[in-house]
Amino acid sequence: MAKISGKIAVVTGASSGIGRATAEALARVGFAVFGTSRRPNGDAPVGVTMLACDVTDDESVKTLVSTVLSKTARIDLLVNNAGIGLIGGAEESSIEQIKALFDVNLLGVMRATNAVLPSMRERRAGLIINMGSVLGIVPAPYSAYYSATKHALEGYSESLDHETRAFNVRVSVIEPAFTRSVFDQNALEPDQKLEPYEKSRADARALMSDVMPTADLPEVVADVVVAAATAKHPKRRYTAGKLARQISILRRFAPAGTFDKNLRRQMRLPA
Ligand SMILES: NC(=O)c1ccc[n+]([C@@H]2O[C@H](COP(=O)([O-])OP(=O)(O)OC[C@H]3O[C@@H](n4cnc5c(N)ncnc54)[C@H](OP(=O)(O)O)[C@@H]3O)[C@@H](O)[C@H]2O)c1
Repeated sequence: MAKISGKIAVVTGASSGIGRATAEALARVGFAVFGTSRRPNGDAPVGVTMLACDVTDDESVKTLVSTVLSKTARIDLLVNNAGIGLIGGAEESSIEQIKALFDVNLLGVMRATNAVLPSMRERRAGLIINMGSVLGIVPAPYSAYYSATKHALEGYSESLDHETRAFNVRVSVIEPAFTRSVFDQNALEPDQKLEPYEKSRADARALMSDVMPTADLPEVVADVVVAAATAKHPKRRYTAGKLARQISILRRFAPAGTFDKNLRRQMRLPA
């Protein structure tokens, strides 16, 4: 691949997992990359300048973007990657907890996007890549709110893309399936647990821990982000990895009843 030079990328949540691999992969192909973490002083990804940012904090996001723009005068690519999970029955979370999850996974994306858009519109160039999930196109029992954040992200991203293409700014969503990271360990527990969901919640967590060791490496997703970031005409959606492609095809083409049965079997739920 030809080296990209002079292009500036910002990757949120670059301290670990998919964001870290993505920031490093973009740096390898020649982007100048600014990665973020709420605590940026740890072990930085290779070739990446780390800055502090909490995507739930308006001022923190504004400061991040103005800091990068003061150094570079442009941002060509924003990768909205920061995100967290929540594993539990839908009835087991308070409204406060649901709001907090949406604050990171959805409003965080909107804050960062709205902070970079003025400079992208002005330059009539830019790409925003949002880290979705296959759980944004299929249901996720015992991760209903996580799935809801990623479904909302799909609707937001595609709508936004229609608006911003007038300014030559495009929006893509990446849809990975299970990816090896500490995502499962970082996934929140519900804050108002109920005994009838105890076993199913534990099974859902166990399923995730079981698949993580053999799940796709974050580099698989990072390569897809690089492909989107360097495409002449980026697509609106990219699945990342074999399992994600299979799920996406099943969702589109399998009869609803077959899909439903298959999902319950995969999620280890009774028929
Ligand atoms: N792993 C999977 O199976 C999988 C599958 C599909 C999609 N995804 C998506 O991929 C993205 C990355 O997940 P991952 O698997 O790489 O998980 P991870 O290893 O837990 O990384 C999450 C990243 O998000 C950052 N973050 C969390 N809360 C934040 C906040 N309030 N403000 C700013 N940054 C915050 C963390 O940074 P600090 O803690 O350093 O601030 C960290 O860098 C998420 O959007 C996730 O939904 C993951």
